[in-house]
Amino acid sequence: MLNKQEIISLLQDEENQADLLKRADEVRHQYVGDEVHLRGLIEFSNICRNNCLYCGIRRGNTKVCRYHMDENELIETARRAAALGFKTIVMQSGEDMYYTEPRLCRIIEAIKKFDVAITLSIGERTYEEYKAFREAGADRYLMRIETTDKELYHKLDPEMSWQHRYECLLAIKELGYELGSGIMVGLPEQSIESIAEDLLFLKELGVDMAGIGPFIPHPETPLAHEKGGTLGLALRTMAVMRLLLPDINIPATTAMESLHPEGRIMALKAGANVVMPNVTEGEYRKLYELYPNKICVNDTPAHCRSCIGMKIQMIGRQIGTGYGAHKKAS
Ligand code: 5AD
Ligand code: FES
Repeated sequence: MLNKQEIISLLQDEENQADLLKRADEVRHQYVGDEVHLRGLIEFSNICRNNCLYCGIRRGNTKVCRYHMDENELIETARRAAALGFKTIVMQSGEDMYYTEPRLCRIIEAIKKFDVAITLSIGERTYEEYKAFREAGADRYLMRIETTDKELYHKLDPEMSWQHRYECLLAIKELGYELGSGIMVGLPEQSIESIAEDLLFLKELGVDMAGIGPFIPHPETPLAHEKGGTLGLALRTMAVMRLLLPDINIPATTAMESLHPEGRIMALKAGANVVMPNVTEGEYRKLYELYPNKICVNDTPAHCRSCIGMKIQMIGRQIGTGYGAHKKAS
């Protein structure tokens, strides 16, 4: 098992990056095989009560045209995604309180009828709400810790609490969800040492899924003029995550493809085994802009499904046929 110093060395070593990514690819092959699991991502609301400095849909960004799908629209979008063959639906939004507990429970129950696994990615809620969503049929929950550097976390959103977010993650796990978390790399003032600590934190937490993406500065946020993360560092971080947690699900993140046209394929060859194509329809795709240069904003769900399907086949991998749950290596 890699210690912190060894992790730091791997993260820093640009020269031997190819070796690291290859090693992660081998571990991925050995532990989770060649299947790539697809998750249909529905961005159902860009309304958010929070004001994270890095995020394009932060409350303080008055330039965003806000939307939320209504209940039927969301269920219909999920139905179509299931019809395209997606076995997991990810429901993602800002922290939009229009989506109350009873409303979300009704939606989860309706979508479960399409024979899909449901992942929620809707931020911080109460223990009772997490419990109700789980009982309604939600299988997984996705919430990045973003960074384990608490000082940095609080600088990035002075109104939020790192400890509270951590407690949410523990509650989610305790309630029997499959837990997905993760981080951004290349945040202002984030050190390599802190990224190493993030990876050890995710291992300690025992996540079932870990998403790692580069921070990409959004022009309408206070961090507009920051540097942002590189694809190289994001890939190395993801690869080390694979070495540390060999059997978990790791997505090739969309933000990686925003930095390079083949970003997701590069990730799939460096430890990733999941892709989350966007199945949001129409104008909503453009309006859900967490960071600039978001990919696929003018495409349709069917187009993205076949596009990514072809890319996966081109690299000799197969699309997963099951729900793609985390299978623990014995
Ligand atoms: N650049 C990259 N990723 C971002 N996210 C939010 N804003 C940005 C940005 N500017 C990520 C966060 C969040 C996820 C849904 O999107 O990690 O958890
Ligand atoms: Fe959307 Fe390729 S995945 S166009």
